[in-house]
Parts: sequence; structure tokens; C-alpha cells
Amino acid sequence: MKILVIGAASRLGKYLIPLILEGNGSKRNELILTYHHSEIDFSAMGVNPEDVVVEELDITQSSQVLYIMLKHTPPLTVHLAAYTNVAAPERDEKEKELCSRINIVGTNNIALNVAKLRGKLVFPSTDYVFNGEKPGGMYTEMDLPNPLNHYGWTKWYGEKRVLKWLSPDRVLILRMSIKRRPFDHEVAAIDMWTSAGYVGDIALEIALAIANFDRVIEILDQRKPIIHIGTARRSIYDLAVKLNKGTEKEGQVSKTTREKIEKDTGLKLAQDVSLNSSLWDREVKPQL
Ligand SMILES: NC(=O)c1ccc[n+]([C@@H]2O[C@H](COP(=O)([O-])OP(=O)(O)OC[C@H]3O[C@@H](n4cnc5c(N)ncnc54)[C@H](OP(=O)(O)O)[C@@H]3O)[C@@H](O)[C@H]2O)c1
Repeated sequence: MKILVIGAASRLGKYLIPLILEGNGSKRNELILTYHHSEIDFSAMGVNPEDVVVEELDITQSSQVLYIMLKHTPPLTVHLAAYTNVAAPERDEKEKELCSRINIVGTNNIALNVAKLRGKLVFPSTDYVFNGEKPGGMYTEMDLPNPLNHYGWTKWYGEKRVLKWLSPDRVLILRMSIKRRPFDHEVAAIDMWTSAGYVGDIALEIALAIANFDRVIEILDQRKPIIHIGTARRSIYDLAVKLNKGTEKEGQVSKTTREKIEKDTGLKLAQDVSLNSSLWDREVKPQL
């Protein structure tokens, strides 16, 4: 199948693209990859650039999105392009505006044009659509979002735009949290909880959903096309220890608290945005 991947130079794209290219079983997919400013690192992906088509695209420009869609008419689009810096919009109005433009206007442009061409869309969203105040976390797909930070708001509004233009049988919104290995910081909170996973592992789950798009929609059977994907609920500190295991940073992460990070950064942090992924783990995945 022909698949358009927008935002191919993203962290997630690096792990996901080789998996999508391989496709399901014997047949490889035909990929059109778009980048913005940063170039796609094909050697890191282990992908031959000659096996794919590469296009430049700024998703905030509706005419560019339409041009790419009309040129390639992809039956399936995977939208990975986003403004993902959570802290900057909290401190700077210009960054806030840019974040909204990319995550809301850009996503609207993609969803609208996918709908015009009667295509299908996979849209990764985030655990930050929740404010983290639910006791014990483990948010389900039925819980109502109420984000704590601007990034979370823009991703939730992005979800709404996607659901506005595309009928529930033409879109999959996959909420998740992804982390690099080793862990990005030297300290980690013992009193903040997450179900984030290593980006390479989460990419495998997303690739499975993409390869089985129609079957996933069939299993959801008219329910909202939103699925939580994650690992077990654990503290950020425990996650950092797990991610660092076997790396050059093993045993090097120190404990801290949410209060201390909030004081040091001036940011308000969510306490528990862990996602309940039982719909995916126990109901959908076993039927694929
Ligand atoms: N990171 C996480 O923990 C996390 C968690 C949940 C969901 N997600 C979602 O997963 C997806 C991928 O996340 P990621 O962390 O892998 O992203 P990332 O590494 O921050 O990459 C984002 C990509 O979007 C591109 N982009 C930004 N503005 C653009 C524009 N106007 N037009 C076209 N492309 C543009 C960037 O290109 P340039 O740099 O060249 O501008 C970059 O390649 C996003 O939808 C994100 O919200 C991420």
C-alpha cells in the first residue's frame, strides 16, 4: 500500500519508518516521506533513500498539504509532524503561538485534505491531554481530557480537528508517551507516574496498528477511534532506571521530587498521566 508519512525526521519516525516500509508479511509498502527543516537520517533508520519518495512539506501551509495529497493520493497518511517542546510555550508567547499553529492548524490542514481525498489517517497523540490529577492515574479512552500545559491543549485540539473532518472508520488516534534510551536527564522524580515506553518498543505497537488499520477499526466497532498505548504504570525514576539499564548511564540517575523540579523550572508538572492500555493490550491486539 502507498503510505504518506508526514514528519519523517521525527524521533518516532526514525523507529517507525523501517517497520512501516517492511509492511505486513511478504509485501513491502510504498512510502512517501516528508520532512520540514531537519533532514531525514536514512542511515540511522537503516533505510535506502532510493526505496522511498521524499518531499519537503510545511504542514502549516494548507496549499502545500493539498499539493502533496493530490500528487500522491495516499490511501493512508501517518501524521508525525508536531511541535513537541512542552516547556517553551509555557514561558514564551511566540512559542505558544507556533505550537498552536503547528499542532492545531497543521493537523487541521492534514485531516481536512485526507478527508477530501477519502483517505485514512493515523495520528499519534499524548498522555499530556490529561492533567494528571486522577487518583491512581491509569486514564482510559473514556476519560475526558483536561490538559495542564499548552502542548497538551494543542494536541487535544488536534485530536478534535481530526475527528471533525474524518469519520470514525477513517482515523486512528494513538495516545502514548515515548522516551529515549538512555533517559534524557540526570535526575528523575519518585512521585510522578507514567506509562511511557522506549520509543523503539512503542513504534512496534504503532506499526502493528498501522498494518492492521481496518481490522482495528472493525474491532473498535463504532467506538471512538482512540487507543492508549503504553507500558506498566511506574514512577519516572523507575522508568529512568529501566531505560538506563545496559547503557553507559546505568546506575547514574538520581532521585528528585515533582516539587523540586517545579521550583527549579517554574513549570507546573502533571503528577500521574499513566495511561490504561488494556483496550489495546487485552482486546484489540489479541485479535490481530
Ligand atoms: N515525544 C513524545 O513523548 C511523544 C509522546 C506522545 C505523542 N507524541 C507525538 O508523536 C509524534 C512524533 O513525536 P516526536 O517526539 O517523534 O517528534 P519530534 O522528534 O519532535 O519531531 C517532530 C517533527 O515535526 C516536524 N515539524 C515541525 N513543524 C513542522 C511543520 N510546520 N511542517 C512539517 N513538519 C514539521 C519537525 O521537523 P523540523 O524539526 O524540521 O521542523 C520534526 O521532524 C508527534 O505527533 C508527537 O506529538 C510524542
